[in-house]
Amino acid sequence: MAEFSKGLEGVVAAETQMSFIDGAKGILEYVGIPIDDLARNSTFEETVFLLWNCRLPKKAELDAFNTDLRSRYRIPAELTSMIQSMPKTAQPMHVRRTAVSALSMYDPSPNGLDSAGKPDIPAMRSKALNVLAQIPTIIATFDRHRRGLPVVDPRANLAFAPNFLYMLNGEAPTPAMARAFDICMILHADHGLNNSTFTGRVVISTLSDMYSALTAAIGSLRGPLHGGANEEVMDMLHEIEAEAKKQGKDVMDYIEPYIMDKLAHRNEGARIMGFGHRVYKTIDPRATFLKTFSKQIAADTGNMRLYEMSSKIEAIMAREVGAKGIYPNVDFYSATTYHSIGLKLDLFTPMFAMSRTSGWAGHCIEQVTDNRLYRPAAKYVGPHGAPYVPVAQR
Ligand code: SDX
Repeated sequence: MAEFSKGLEGVVAAETQMSFIDGAKGILEYVGIPIDDLARNSTFEETVFLLWNCRLPKKAELDAFNTDLRSRYRIPAELTSMIQSMPKTAQPMHVRRTAVSALSMYDPSPNGLDSAGKPDIPAMRSKALNVLAQIPTIIATFDRHRRGLPVVDPRANLAFAPNFLYMLNGEAPTPAMARAFDICMILHADHGLNNSTFTGRVVISTLSDMYSALTAAIGSLRGPLHGGANEEVMDMLHEIEAEAKKQGKDVMDYIEPYIMDKLAHRNEGARIMGFGHRVYKTIDPRATFLKTFSKQIAADTGNMRLYEMSSKIEAIMAREVGAKGIYPNVDFYSATTYHSIGLKLDLFTPMFAMSRTSGWAGHCIEQVTDNRLYRPAAKYVGPHGAPYVPVAQR
């Protein structure tokens, strides 16, 4: 029996060929390819093919994959109606979790097992591709609904990133915005056995279905300690701006006291969102790439103040807690990037989940390909031989 490790810290719970992380050196590779090379040269669709097939596609294969994905953009009409009946004040991550779960009801064979009860891998891949293709449509449909705008149908002649922005805004994005979003999708696609990916693997290890596994993973990613941090980063930047204004201070002068106060309360659980990581003890390579990228897109969209604030926070944190291995993670600069692209704050985490659906699905396929039901042990620390005391005597 292995020793108890809180939060399974340091425990190896799966083998994967999809992403490699060296937390000490700040390295992330997808099937051996450095994340920087993929962000600069690949597309989200090509990255998904890489993760699901453990190799880059030939041109004809990529063209076929693109065509297949785009042919699946549309969601069932009944699901559109269901989304349009949801409260306009619903949280987009709750809408997404509910809609992905509902997709299983419009699949005539949702379980993905063959007649012998064994995982039907091609069927599971097809279900995963349906969910991946339809997530953008689900999110855009709800956002249009809550804004009182008509649904914008997907366009099968648009790639994943521009199609989402088109459905959201009702007009095709600029090539620069589409590329910015595509790069964010590449950077968030997979990341080893993070909490939401592990959640998906645990669920699918019971030979449950892809919809149930992906729904469970969404629930995990919503948490502010995991996927929800990017929204909290933007909340923090806005809070600093509002507090500085209230005190009649220049926002750049207010950052130091604000951060120092948060750090002074970290033993009470206060956290600077977008910093720290269970695995990285140096800067997250995705944050390194996003820092440079967010500066460019902030400059292009008049959001340089947010970038300058973020950069100053990073410098203070490096001085105060860098020695403890607390550096920016993927969420810190993705906040400014998503804001500069024009996405609403409560869509930031759904964007993370939109991309990570590809990683979750790839891990679920890995899991069922060489499955072992997850059932860890618990260390019992309660009493033994306790008497049953009748309620009248308690
Ligand atoms: C993601 O796992 C993944 O791969 C996740 C992810 C992915 O792609 O899937 O990379 C995405 O989840 C990024 C992380 C987003 N979350 C945040 O930015 C929230 C803020 N970060 C922290 O809550 C924290 O860093 C975690 C949760 C991310 C990791 O925490 P751990 O490993 O459980 O570390 P801990 O909370 O036990 O902290 C260890 C020490 C403590 O100090 P001491 O008590 O030892 O003195 O580091 C300090 C903490 O106080 N610390 C922080 C801090 N993070 C850790 N102090 C201030 N601010 C922070 N953000």
